[in-house]
Amino acid sequence: MSYQIAIDGPAGAGKSTIAKEIAKKLGFIYVDTGAMYRAMALYLLRRGISPEESEKISAASQEADITIAYQEGVQQVLLDKENVTTLLRTEEVGNMASASSVNPDVRKKLVDLQRILASRENVVMDGRDIGTCVLPDANVKIYLTASTACRAKRRYDELKAKGETCDLADIEGDIKDRDHRDMTREHSPLRQAEDAVLLDSSNLTIKEVTEKILALVKAEAGKR
Ligand code: DC
Repeated sequence: MSYQIAIDGPAGAGKSTIAKEIAKKLGFIYVDTGAMYRAMALYLLRRGISPEESEKISAASQEADITIAYQEGVQQVLLDKENVTTLLRTEEVGNMASASSVNPDVRKKLVDLQRILASRENVVMDGRDIGTCVLPDANVKIYLTASTACRAKRRYDELKAKGETCDLADIEGDIKDRDHRDMTREHSPLRQAEDAVLLDSSNLTIKEVTEKILALVKAEAGKR
């Protein structure tokens, strides 16, 4: 049986940074499920489909060929064999991913892929529904959150560092909208699994959060 660590939480809570650290420390693979939803969003945007066209989204999602590969331990997302990894972290793609991920056909397709990956290798997987839906029997489940202001500032710094022009208030507004959509959608909404440990990273460093999670993994291993 593979070992599974599930990390869920809202956008900008630090999931991917922390999950990568944990994966590196434990020698597991890191699976960024948000990147899969983003690749699907890019596919839909390229086809000129808008978030409201749910039937078109359902049909097109079945045609998209999304696969995951690893280059020197770093996840790469291939869309119809093209490596689109560097195209996924824009606000446009993120907003479309949030909108199109409400679609059950999109979710089913990507959840199947996520479960296959997690059955083959030890994983740290992050997303919105990993502990509640994708990997209900994960060995360790974390719900990682942080205040809205703190998450907006982190996203702002991330975009600035990449040389993108952005506005903090716009980003905070986008984050609120996205949280609302992710938490209130009908299928697999973002919520803390009953058996997940809640961590608020607002006032913690990356190192402190990583250490807390590694301690939970150690404690879980001790129980077996
Ligand atoms: O984590 P992220 O910002 O890359 O995710 C982009 C969007 O994808 C997010 O707003 C909701 C969706 N998503 C999801 O519905 N389920 C997941 N497991 C991961 C992401």
